[in-house]
This record gives sequence, structure tokens and C-alpha cells, in this order.
Amino acid sequence: MEWLDPLILSRWQFGLTTIYHYLFVPLTIGMALAAAILQTAWVRTGKIEYLHLTRFSGRSSSSTSRWALSPASCRSSSSG
Ligand code: HEM
Repeated sequence: MEWLDPLILSRWQFGLTTIYHYLFVPLTIGMALAAAILQTAWVRTGKIEYLHLTRFSGRSSSSTSRWALSPASCRSSSSG
């Protein structure tokens, strides 16, 4: 049961957290920026395509946030 060593587990936790942050942080920031740019384009031009793209990028970025705020991801904050 060497792999149950707290040091090894902590390293795995840090490694996995780092890996998904590398993916989800740029994705979340990028989708929010895309939604803002597309919505501005919709307001300025009135083209319906921009509204559809705004909704699509808003939905995708809220999916990543929902995942981040899911109960499973709150475990370490609640256990202290
Ligand atoms: C600039 C943006 C962000 C920073 C600086 C940041 C920083 C951190 C740090 C320091 C932790 C460790 C907390 C701890 O162990 O006490 C953490 C945990 C976590 N982060 Fe982020 N994060 C960012 C964005 C995100 C995003 C965009 C997501 C997902 C969409 C995300 C999902 C998570 C999850 C699921 C955990 C593990 C749960 C927890 O430890 O409470 N984070 N983050």
C-alpha cells in the first residue's frame, strides 16, 4: 500500500489539479471573451448569426463553470 502514502497522494492531487487548470482556465476565460465580442458584434450589426454564436459560446462557458462548482469539486473546501 505504498501508493497510499500522503506525500504520493498529495503529488497526484497537485498534478491532476494543475493539468485540468491548464485546460479549463484558458477555456473559461476564452469563452467569456468570445461571448463578449460576439454579443458586441450582434448589438452593433443586428445580425441574427451573432446572437446564435453568442448563445452558443455562453452555454459552453457556463458548462465549464457548472462543472467547476459541482459538489464533487467542493469536497476539499468543505472538509477544510
Ligand atoms: C485564474 C483562475 C484560477 C485560479 C488562480 C485557480 C486556482 C486554484 C487553486 C489554488 C486551487 C487549489 C485549492 C485548494 O486545494 O485549496 C484550485 C482548485 C480547483 N479549481 Fe481552480 N483556479 C482557477 C480557475 C479554475 C477554473 C476555470 C476551473 C474549472 C472550470 C477550476 C476548477 C477547480 C477545481 C475543480 C478545484 C478543486 C476543488 C478545490 O480544491 O476546492 N479552477 N484552483
